[in-house]
Amino acid sequence: MSIEQLRKEVMSDINSAKTREQCDAIRVKFLGRKEGKLTEILKSLKEMSVEEKRVIGSAANELRQYIEHELNKKTEYIVAHEQKKKNRFDVTKPGKRVVSGVLHPLTKVDKEVRTIFSSLNFTIVEGPELETEVYNFDSLNIPAGHSARDMWDTLWVKQAPNSEGLLMRTHTSPVQARYMESHNPPFQIIVPGRVFRYEATDASHEINFYQIEGLMVGPDITLANLKFVIETFFKKFFKQKIEFRYRPSYFPFVEPGIEVDIKLKGGKWLEVMGAGMVHRNVFDAVKYNHTELQGFAFGMGLDRLAMIKYGVPDVRLFYSGDIRFTKNFK
Ligand code: DAH
Repeated sequence: MSIEQLRKEVMSDINSAKTREQCDAIRVKFLGRKEGKLTEILKSLKEMSVEEKRVIGSAANELRQYIEHELNKKTEYIVAHEQKKKNRFDVTKPGKRVVSGVLHPLTKVDKEVRTIFSSLNFTIVEGPELETEVYNFDSLNIPAGHSARDMWDTLWVKQAPNSEGLLMRTHTSPVQARYMESHNPPFQIIVPGRVFRYEATDASHEINFYQIEGLMVGPDITLANLKFVIETFFKKFFKQKIEFRYRPSYFPFVEPGIEVDIKLKGGKWLEVMGAGMVHRNVFDAVKYNHTELQGFAFGMGLDRLAMIKYGVPDVRLFYSGDIRFTKNFK
């Protein structure tokens, strides 16, 4: 077989090789020490004339280098290709679990409350957490020295002597006065927000928690409107039929004052909010004419709503920062 024929054969073999094993076989077939086709030619050189040796010998050596070079190239190509295949995205493999965060249960309840009241055409209003004594108490018919101030254990903020009293708001009610000072009725608002109490903590008390204040004012707002709004809210929030109970109560900023209890399916009576008709002194403090206006107000604890809705036994869990707790509220 001539060197040229051999070159053709080896080229076509290398071209059609698809695996490393095939490349190895080609190497053996042509360059193998025992019966390699090119090796045979090289072996037969010794029987040739000097002239033949020179011509065929150099051609054969050149072909050997060529075969080695081509085989190496091909093997490299095959290895790279195998690597690529390994790295390719396999759509049939099971996926990796994606760990995603969840909303805190208080955030979820807050969003829900806002959505429900927005659907009832209430405007959402917010106010400052650092509040003045005047807004937190005086404007709500709780003047200095009034024994009702004891209803709220207050975190006072240290101030220079004789300056305005500052405190961490004990309820969201001061935003009633802030809003009325700059808006004219009729209107209906809710005020979600954080409040603070100087109290020992236990399963149902925290030094800070969240409230939702409600206020609706117009020329002819009555307790019937209060009842409708509250009952609509709770039915939407708990998504079930609920029994309601209204008890007389006392808050300085309303008259009459009431407390609202609810009973869920198969449950006990639960106290869920304070409410009432806005006191005339509150209207007077914001320069509203109390002979022409009436309004209702209410206040409820967001944490308490969340505890009832999700069956959380201890309010302190909401503030534990423990994701083993929060991740339960998908
Ligand atoms: N501010 C009261 C509290 O923190 C709750 C409250 C009761 C708000 C009656 C009201 C209301 O607006 O009418 O205990």
